Amino acid sequence: MQKWILETKELTRKFGNQAAVNAINLHVPKGRIYGLLGRNGAGKTTTLRMIMGLVKPTSGEIEIFGKNAQQSAKQVYTRIGSIIETPGFYQNLTGSENLEILARLRGIHRSDAVQYALSRVGLDKEPRKIVSQYSLGMKQRLGIAAAIMHEPELLILDEPTNGLDPIGIQEMRNFLVSLCEEKHVTIIISSHILSEIEQLANNIGIIHEGKLLEEITLEELRKRNRKHVEFQVTNDKKAVMLMERHFGISDYEVHEKGTIRVYSHLGEQGKLNKVFVENDIEVLKINTSEDKLEDYFVKLIGGGTIG
Ligand SMILES: Nc1ncnc2c1ncn2[C@@H]1O[C@H](COP(=O)(O)OP(=O)(O)O)[C@@H](O)[C@H]1O
Ligand SMILES: [Mg+2]
Repeated sequence: MQKWILETKELTRKFGNQAAVNAINLHVPKGRIYGLLGRNGAGKTTTLRMIMGLVKPTSGEIEIFGKNAQQSAKQVYTRIGSIIETPGFYQNLTGSENLEILARLRGIHRSDAVQYALSRVGLDKEPRKIVSQYSLGMKQRLGIAAAIMHEPELLILDEPTNGLDPIGIQEMRNFLVSLCEEKHVTIIISSHILSEIEQLANNIGIIHEGKLLEEITLEELRKRNRKHVEFQVTNDKKAVMLMERHFGISDYEVHEKGTIRVYSHLGEQGKLNKVFVENDIEVLKINTSEDKLEDYFVKLIGGGTIG
């Protein structure tokens, strides 16, 4: 079994001389929620449109389900659902009538496909309501229902919570998590809102000015942003030994040579420093970590704010 359900290799799209997407290497693991995070204009939509075959890459490759997406378009795209192009719905028909039409157009033959999709997104409770009476959240969910009627293995959503109120966002989040956990659908979702991605995604790709700055698991990200004090010393082995012996510290990591991150005893860096120096260890630097994930992103993308 291949490791990635989707992988891009040096994927690039230029508009004129401008690279909207610049040599991106995405790695989306199977069965997880992958969040593509970046400010407006970062290149998210262009990336997702290329993945869906709606925009032709200038260069680079897309591999989905272990196959080249362009060469095996037919086999690949029948296994994907997306709402990059939001389908226009007939306003004077019900959700179910709209989906019936789409199912017929797309040649979906399973008789319970529409019912399955509507119940999955929680739109089966008011069957008589016509789309013009839907809230924005309900319309978004109908869009997703249309995308999952054929039970795709991969679902690609471009900023699906845009314009939703907090309750709508919460509903969407619950629904996506249950789709991933219960139906094992892999989901790629883009957003410019950090907190949203943080609450939803297992894996995060950070895109900025067309470049993928980093791919990281949420776990790793949280760990990296756990409050800590970082010492740079001349003898890390000895320093660690002293920390353990004098302070009973066990929650630490040694990174590059001489760099030690301590996650406990946060107010006591002065005392630690003293013990190091008394034992002929030179302390070259002491840094305290940022408190917030936000700061980390701001640093990563070089100023400005996100989400
Ligand atoms: N069809 C297009 N023609 C010219 N420039 C485009 C086109 N589509 C997107 N761009 C540019 O590419 C960059 C990335 O846009 P986009 O992928 O929409 O970013 P995001 O979805 O992250 O907001 C932007 O600078 C945008 O202006
Ligand atoms: Mg966009």
